[in-house]
Amino acid sequence: MKAEIARAAEILRAGGLVAFPTETVYGLGARADRPKAVAKIFAAKERPNFDPLIAHSPDLTTAEHYAFFDEMARELGRRFWPGPLTLVLPRRPVVCDLATSGLATVGIRVPAHPLARELLEACGLPIAAPSANRFGYVSPTTAGHVREGLRGRVEMILDGGPCTVGVESTIVALEGGTARLLRPGGVPREAIEAALGQKLTYGGHQAPVDAPQAPGMLKSHYAPTRPVECFDSLSTLEARAKELNGDCALLGCDLPEGIPAQVREDLGKDAIAMAAGLFAALRRLDAAPVTAILALLPCPEGLGLAVRDRLIRAGGSRPVG
Ligand code: TXA
Ligand code: MG
Repeated sequence: MKAEIARAAEILRAGGLVAFPTETVYGLGARADRPKAVAKIFAAKERPNFDPLIAHSPDLTTAEHYAFFDEMARELGRRFWPGPLTLVLPRRPVVCDLATSGLATVGIRVPAHPLARELLEACGLPIAAPSANRFGYVSPTTAGHVREGLRGRVEMILDGGPCTVGVESTIVALEGGTARLLRPGGVPREAIEAALGQKLTYGGHQAPVDAPQAPGMLKSHYAPTRPVECFDSLSTLEARAKELNGDCALLGCDLPEGIPAQVREDLGKDAIAMAAGLFAALRRLDAAPVTAILALLPCPEGLGLAVRDRLIRAGGSRPVG
């Protein structure tokens, strides 16, 4: 693996693309200080370039070269890095305009996966890395998923096995002493609030759902091609499964027996297990010959908030970059 990391670092330094594992999802990396290298990410993913990228750093000290950290930011960095947290902070000029879509802020993360850390240390540069999938499709949690979407578009794929967290990082924007949750993810909202001693403002999907989304709505972020319908209550989900005469797939954790369906993906006992298995399950279900995927949402606590967010987006209710 040492030789592979050295080769990957060389490709990145030369301005090429390398897909690498993180604890959340696989990233598609390029050096963040060179617009020509960053442009390759947008081209490979077919991603619109008004959607800013996260710059990855091996540690907090190095991250301070890429953004301005106040005490609040430093506290969160010390507490949660390395780990699945991204901080959006006022930027320094190192990370190029294309990577930040011209914003005055930059998203920074120190990943915990040992291969990601070794790679970042070996190349000694900020590495811009969105999830290593085509834009709008489900994020990859194995090297095989990356190959399915980006084969031939990336110079090297480092294989670090399946990602353990399974959903992307939690994104928090800090400005003028307030903290905003921009995307729920691998660090629970409650843990960040406890560390800060204040609530995070969040405008996301918190309302109960229980209304099947109309199939065929516009494809949105995290979306498989098959329609996903989200449910807060088991009885409503069951009624919908009966209405479809079992021409559906079930997705959830701790699913009871007896609901009519062609396929079921029971992801385990809690939201942590559900997060870890979620994207791989969505990919498998996408190949199932059913009318709809019926998903039972976890409670919006701990990793449940991120799982709900990804499932509701997969349902196409709100297209987001
Ligand atoms: O777990 C993760 O965060 C993974 C791994 C590879 O690190 N990366 C990831 O990147 O999920 P991506 O590009 O798929 O999602 C990054 C999100 C985008 O939705 C973008 O809008 C937001 O971060 N973002 C990045 N910089 C930002 C900024 N300066 N202000 C607001 N949002 C920002
Ligand atoms: Mg993504």
